[in-house]
Amino acid sequence: MTDSVNQQIVYLNGSYLPMMESQISTQDRGFLFGDGVYEVIPVYQGKLFRFDAHIQRLKNSLQATSITNPFNDSEWLEMLENLVAKHDWQDQYIYLQVTRGVQMQRDHLPADCLTPTIYAYTNPLKPVVDNIIQNGIKVVSLDDIRWLRCDIKATTLLPNVMMKLAAKSQGADDAILITREGNISEGTASNTFIVKDGNLITPPNSNEILPGITRMVIESIAAEHNIPMIEKNITLDDLNSADEIWLSSSTKEALPVTQLNGQAVGSGKPGALWLQMREHYQQHKQKFIESQL
Ligand code: PDD
Repeated sequence: MTDSVNQQIVYLNGSYLPMMESQISTQDRGFLFGDGVYEVIPVYQGKLFRFDAHIQRLKNSLQATSITNPFNDSEWLEMLENLVAKHDWQDQYIYLQVTRGVQMQRDHLPADCLTPTIYAYTNPLKPVVDNIIQNGIKVVSLDDIRWLRCDIKATTLLPNVMMKLAAKSQGADDAILITREGNISEGTASNTFIVKDGNLITPPNSNEILPGITRMVIESIAAEHNIPMIEKNITLDDLNSADEIWLSSSTKEALPVTQLNGQAVGSGKPGALWLQMREHYQQHKQKFIESQL
């Protein structure tokens, strides 16, 4: 067991070893081509949250990219639970990366029968800092410069990195992305919601967004608490006139956006529906933890 980030234990191709000792080949297609997919799974009090949904999304990403799925569901679970158990942190988040594997002769066309590289590591999951809870985050809108298969959770994140840098250079914490058709897709690493006249609105799943697991959780909480929720396209005008804007992800849950392109969103403070959702979300997590005892 360890409680120091510097002594993190990782899983690499069948072994658990210190992160400092983990190495992969320079000929790994993940390194040379970004030829791989990944998942991010939150862990509450040692239990993997929405494991089934995350593994299903991983399987969808593997299938869409024709990368062999090296494990069955219970093997994935066992490996990840073992990794989690090697760390003292109560709450964690796991990064699980699967690449197509090592191919000595560089070729865009993958060789047959490659052995996927499997790498997983876990980090302490800290609550979102108080300043964000009190004041929210600032975003700018940017053109979505990504490809047309954003439903695949691909390791190829260069456009996301570039857009995050562009947001930062404009003094913002993140960006909300606008597709070529003029609709909101999502954040650089999150899904997007707006609140308008009491309705919670999010873009429908498509090839232009990642089907977020947190988005799904928010949807089920909204249904449970009779919060009207609509899936429909959101334009930049809709975003500009929204009462509230949220971003959602497994590591941040739902985050309130209080500034868009330098203008206050709603009152300029985290909105009433967000506060309500935050409360429900914590209760939902608590119920999940209790259900696992
Ligand atoms: N990102 N959209 C994108 C582009 C994302 O990268 C993410 C998550 C989401 C939200 O998905 P989920 O609710 O399943 O976490 C949406 C993770 C946290 C990351 O890449 O680090």
